[in-house]
Amino acid sequence: MSKTRKIAVIGGDGTGPEVSAEGVKVLQAVGKLEGLHFELSPLDWGGDRYLKTGAALPEDGLDQLRKFDAILLGAVGHPEVAPGILERKLLLDLRFGLDQYINLRPVKLFPGVETPLKDKGCDDIDFIVVRENTEDLYCGAGGFMHKGTPYEVATQMAIYTRRGCERCIRYAFELTRKRNNPKGKKLTLVAKTNVLTVGHDLWWRTFQEVAKEYPDVQADYNHVDACCMWIVKNPEYYDVIVTTNMFGDIITDLSGIIQGGMGVAAGGNINPEGVSMFEPMGGSAPKYTGTGTINPIAAINAVSMMLDQLGEVKAAQRVMNAIMHVTGTKMKSQAAGKMGYTTSQVGDLVCEAL
Ligand code: IPM
Ligand code: MG
Repeated sequence: MSKTRKIAVIGGDGTGPEVSAEGVKVLQAVGKLEGLHFELSPLDWGGDRYLKTGAALPEDGLDQLRKFDAILLGAVGHPEVAPGILERKLLLDLRFGLDQYINLRPVKLFPGVETPLKDKGCDDIDFIVVRENTEDLYCGAGGFMHKGTPYEVATQMAIYTRRGCERCIRYAFELTRKRNNPKGKKLTLVAKTNVLTVGHDLWWRTFQEVAKEYPDVQADYNHVDACCMWIVKNPEYYDVIVTTNMFGDIITDLSGIIQGGMGVAAGGNINPEGVSMFEPMGGSAPKYTGTGTINPIAAINAVSMMLDQLGEVKAAQRVMNAIMHVTGTKMKSQAAGKMGYTTSQVGDLVCEAL
């Protein structure tokens, strides 16, 4: 019997608890088949807790999480809590506090899943976005002057550090090498060096320097606006993309929709030396809460990423294969309410397919 992995499960808001429950179901099923043992601790952190107690998580929340091997997160966002509060207090404070400096978002079209790009297939839509996850406009640096007056000034600063971009770029080169794409190993830096001539100059120079250590990887560059165009027109162009936090946020929603939408897209907040957190990319979809109609594939996809990060490559692949079997041969659609099955039935189908 292998060692016990301690997993924190933060179901979160809206449909988050429902989809993460299906993820947990699949994790336990694959654990049984692969002889892996998981000890799951559900944590009731999120909007409801915030409304009751004034805090989305306990004061020692970060310390609690440091004791786990990984975190599975459902969703953040509550209709009765003003936008920005839970995002900052729960999601971003965890990403920053646990130094999860990589936001890893694979973009892969599963069999049977409809893409809005009608002439593209599973071989064309298969790339990974490595998004820097701790800097940029997300730092919250800046402030107001003369707030609420006609003279109001607002500043919001993008902060980039050499250490921050280098560790992200290095991770991306390593991943590109490991992925070993038969079409050729290519890492595309996505930035805006023609306008952001300070911050993205740092990224550009660092990228060029680190690239010298990876002569087997093609070091490529796209401006972010052009990248948005190519993702839609020629997604097969991409192997791995590395980018800044803000641009990464935007291009991963665009990428998410071409892989079939928020019902399938998952992401990992990764600290390669610490505790990582995995989440379906869609939000809390409050209007579907409790209806059993939300798609759990994204949360199950997040479980596959978690297994991979824990070094359980075989179990991760097993979950991935089961997902592809279910999308390819069972589900009618990836849209909530149109799957042909309930949320929990989709989870059962994936367990059977394991
Ligand atoms: C994401 C989300 C978050 C982000 C929000 C909810 C703060 O859009 O994970 O992509 O901007 O990073
Ligand atoms: Mg986003």
